Amino acid sequence: MNPKRPSGSVRYENQGRVVIVTGGCSGIGRAICDAFAQSEAMVICADVDDASAADLPDGIDYVHCDVASEADCKTVATHAVNHHGGIDVLVNNAAIQPKSSYAPIHQLDSDTWRQMLAVNLSGYHWMAKHVVPVMLQQRSGVIVNLASGQAHRTAREVGTYGPIKAANVMQTRQWGIEYARHGIRVVSVSPGAIDTPLVRATLQQQGGGDALANRHPLGRIGQTAEVAAAVLWLSSNDASFVTATDLEVDGGLGGFGAFADPYSQD
Ligand SMILES: NC(=O)c1ccc[n+]([C@@H]2O[C@H](COP(=O)([O-])OP(=O)(O)OC[C@H]3O[C@@H](n4cnc5c(N)ncnc54)[C@H](O)[C@@H]3O)[C@@H](O)[C@H]2O)c1
Repeated sequence: MNPKRPSGSVRYENQGRVVIVTGGCSGIGRAICDAFAQSEAMVICADVDDASAADLPDGIDYVHCDVASEADCKTVATHAVNHHGGIDVLVNNAAIQPKSSYAPIHQLDSDTWRQMLAVNLSGYHWMAKHVVPVMLQQRSGVIVNLASGQAHRTAREVGTYGPIKAANVMQTRQWGIEYARHGIRVVSVSPGAIDTPLVRATLQQQGGGDALANRHPLGRIGQTAEVAAAVLWLSSNDASFVTATDLEVDGGLGGFGAFADPYSQD
């Protein structure tokens, strides 16, 4: 027996498809932009980080958009139609988890709550609200919402982030059933810990990367490309019978009943 077996991988053809990715300038969103661009999709990156947009590969169309603003979200959808002829995929990815959000709710500053609701929940809603009419007219489209393992099980001091991520999963189910007979699929992806600036900031807050990696049954945190690969599959026709549901891309973390560290000695 040859112990070194071929690993296998899939290459997607996205030529001619128009894909909007919110928060595409960094982390998971950036990997999703890159993966779609490599498969020849027309990618529109909607983000607030104009400085980082300069580092996007040639061919990716950047539109400044604060997803907390309904007007900005509408502008992105209109831009996609006017400049690229339609919208095939919307990836709702932009979200924030500021340091000030790590607090039990009685100590949580109210502006942090309002800001996270505006970006992490309303942002997904505004983008979908203005993209769905285009998809209804086309009678086709896929929406992928980035949720989180913390949508399903929680930790201390994420009383804003976790419940809003759970709401992102319910947005997925709600929109998925609403539009299933109109050619539109809606799915969410719940990553475990993925190596991005957002998680590096969290690690500083909670202390130590090794413990977090060890908490995942696969013994490591994930890479952004591993989440992007799931998003590309879910957006493809290979996932044509998958809608109104969530996929955990988490190295097995969701197999545990709680977010607690099962490998801890104490
Ligand atoms: N990194 C992880 O381990 C992890 C785990 C679970 C879920 N997620 C989810 O994945 C998604 C991406 O996370 P990440 O770690 O790549 O984050 P990140 O902080 O690396 O990137 C977020 C991007 O969103 C942009 N953004 C922030 N506010 C915005 C706004 N108002 N309008 C438009 N763009 C805005 C930022 O400029 C940045 O480019 C988020 O929804 C996050 O909750 C991440």
